[in-house]
Amino acid sequence: MNQSRRNFLASIAVAAALPPASFAEASAALRPAAALAQDPLRPQYHLLPARNWMNDPNGPIFWKGKYHMFFQYNPGGAIWGDMHWAHAVSEDMIHWKHLPVALAPTPGGPDADGVFSGTTFVKDGRVGMMFTGVRKPTPEEEVLRGSSLIESQCIAMADNDELTSFTKVKDAVIAAPPPQLQTNGFRDPSPWKQGDWWYTPIASGIAGAGGAILLYRSRDLRQWEFVHIFAQRQQWFEAYTPWDVWECPEFFPLGDRHVLIFSTYGKAFWQTGRFDAERLLFHPEQQGILDHGSFYAPKTQLDAHGNRILWGWIQEARSSAEYDAAGWSGMMSLPRVLTMANDGTLRYRVADEALALRKLERSAAGADATTVKLENCCGEALYRVHRGDKAFRLVLRGDRTNDIWMTVSYDPAHSEQIQLDYRPFETASGGTSEVRLHVDGSVVEIIVDGQIAWSRRFYYKGAQQAALLKWEGDAASLLEAKWWQMKPISADRLTT
Ligand code: FRU
Repeated sequence: MNQSRRNFLASIAVAAALPPASFAEASAALRPAAALAQDPLRPQYHLLPARNWMNDPNGPIFWKGKYHMFFQYNPGGAIWGDMHWAHAVSEDMIHWKHLPVALAPTPGGPDADGVFSGTTFVKDGRVGMMFTGVRKPTPEEEVLRGSSLIESQCIAMADNDELTSFTKVKDAVIAAPPPQLQTNGFRDPSPWKQGDWWYTPIASGIAGAGGAILLYRSRDLRQWEFVHIFAQRQQWFEAYTPWDVWECPEFFPLGDRHVLIFSTYGKAFWQTGRFDAERLLFHPEQQGILDHGSFYAPKTQLDAHGNRILWGWIQEARSSAEYDAAGWSGMMSLPRVLTMANDGTLRYRVADEALALRKLERSAAGADATTVKLENCCGEALYRVHRGDKAFRLVLRGDRTNDIWMTVSYDPAHSEQIQLDYRPFETASGGTSEVRLHVDGSVVEIIVDGQIAWSRRFYYKGAQQAALLKWEGDAASLLEAKWWQMKPISADRLTT
């Protein structure tokens, strides 16, 4: 997260007299398409806008045979600000066509200064969106509460099944947080329907206590009432500051349990457990981190087959000056199918639709697989490795420099662990692990044993490089490697 975005979000989180958000912050001139198309760091099979800044996925939905993805977008440059909802459509969640922006701020409206994150829903056969509008306070409001932006929950309804035109409900449907609570932040609704009621969690925090999620309910999506605090920072959640907001909450059933996801502190968290639908109470039993790398504010949807698909915003890991100069920032993760293991922990796998991109399959084992090359940093590799009594290391790097982009390693002194960039992770699998890597431009999405996900950004200067995967250490532990070049989803890295 860049510094100005962090400051801005802090400024709306605390009702203190902080300077107004720097929406007008200047971005470098828009970069020409030709330069973007030749930027070797731009991915070739991940969704991202043709240029500029993007962040959270918003309201992904499968509707009338098509996948629609909306996401936070700044039409004015490659830095965060002036939030709109961009829109892309796909038949397979992999190949995308960009459509005109779906939601833009309405002058004089509750979203006059930004259309923040939210979710789609279906009511009476129509798709709608519930989202957070932000606006600057009036002079009177400023006297009372300082200059921080005012967040409220808004609704728009689609005018057609292509979801290319929306009509907003003029006023906010939830204008302010419950007055009895001293809240930090009030945003990112994510409604679901249960019986006669609609419910929505809302991202917030309780002053001095840390992140919290508020639960509201409504019969008609227009009149809402506050139910109670649905989730709140507990002892297990060590990393926190008193002004934290648990952003982008979402609550859904999976297998025989329920899942709550939310993002804070630069990471996306999950909790699984039992939902008492009578009392509207969630009892978490397990928790963890959805992805340990550059992955934030995820959102889920059901695919055409009823699978629960997770999408995350893969952030930049370079400075805002660098991505501003590059003319683009951020991308969407590949779609990941989420499943529930018997013990209540989550499993992930990249959706099968991505398999269609594979070409040129190769495979080898042991000493024959010590170097795997993915041309243009556009490929996938799958390793089956034996965690026995010998150490090994898999190094990802470019073919023109010696910089190491990422490592996967194993130390027999800790046979239950795999290390990603030397950070240990427990894996429940027996003596064999599966390491799946999707390398694309400047990102590698790694999933180990379907349990540990890590999206890692890497950058280099100069001409296009190939990605090399070098196996070091015991060759016999490398049971099998398979690898593929991936077909780009567009001719020019603009994913249009
Ligand atoms: C998460 C977030 C949301 C907010 C949006 C603004 O990344 O901070 O809480 O709605 O981004 O772009």
